[in-house]
Amino acid sequence: MSVHKEVRKVTTHRLSEMKLRGEKIAMLTSYDYSMAQLVDEAGVDVILVGDSASNVMAGNETTLPITLDQMIYHGTSVVKAVSRALVVVDLPFGTYQGDSREALISAIRIMKETAADSVKLEGGSEVIESVQRILSAGIPVMGHLGLMPQSIHKFGTYTVRAKEEAEADKLISDAKLLEETGCFAIVLEKIPAELGTRVAEEVKIPVIGIGAGGGVDGQVLVIHDLLGITQQFSPRFLRRYHNLAAEIKGAVGNYINDVKSKDFPSEKEQY
Ligand code: KIV
Repeated sequence: MSVHKEVRKVTTHRLSEMKLRGEKIAMLTSYDYSMAQLVDEAGVDVILVGDSASNVMAGNETTLPITLDQMIYHGTSVVKAVSRALVVVDLPFGTYQGDSREALISAIRIMKETAADSVKLEGGSEVIESVQRILSAGIPVMGHLGLMPQSIHKFGTYTVRAKEEAEADKLISDAKLLEETGCFAIVLEKIPAELGTRVAEEVKIPVIGIGAGGGVDGQVLVIHDLLGITQQFSPRFLRRYHNLAAEIKGAVGNYINDVKSKDFPSEKEQY
């Protein structure tokens, strides 16, 4: 007798139900098939194919260089591995800010070529026409406010955003605008915890934070940071759950020793 385990896919509707009943949303990035399979099997609710792939996968200093084709490559690999989590793919820099038609074409390419569930983009009122146009094609959109890494050259630094009243007010009105326009959720990055809580209270859609405190509706981290693969990056908001860098280096060191000492392969490890 085979036991068939039914997997109930996470949808945007299920995320809003989670917010309503006060269940926190766990979101993580993934960029490739093998990692996405593990992250999904572990039970994360949302997998973000973030443009942070530009940093952690390609070694760029910023998220700006990654292209739409590269995001589609990562998105396709992740979607193939996932059966439960909702998959969100970032629209990369330069594919939605110019005009709303270009934004729609970029989002359609992501949805058609990766089979992801939704897209994410950075910004509020500045990109609202693009958000509207993508939504009008039936594509779910996640917003992203606060520290927006695609605008790093405008900000000049990766420090906490919206500490001043004017920027905090703009962030709140942008969050409301994204909600009214129809976004299903918003990521808030690196802002004061009090502001994160206030936004989560003032909008009905789920608010997912990265460095936005514990009063929001869920948390997101970059998987390489959580696992301790990335070593240089150590912001206050990051909790490392493992030191995989040391484990990987240890395992590779053992392999090198075994090859050099002719211990590997043994009799049993050959034909
Ligand atoms: O690209 C990314 O990983 C992100 C998260 C930091 C939210 O946008």
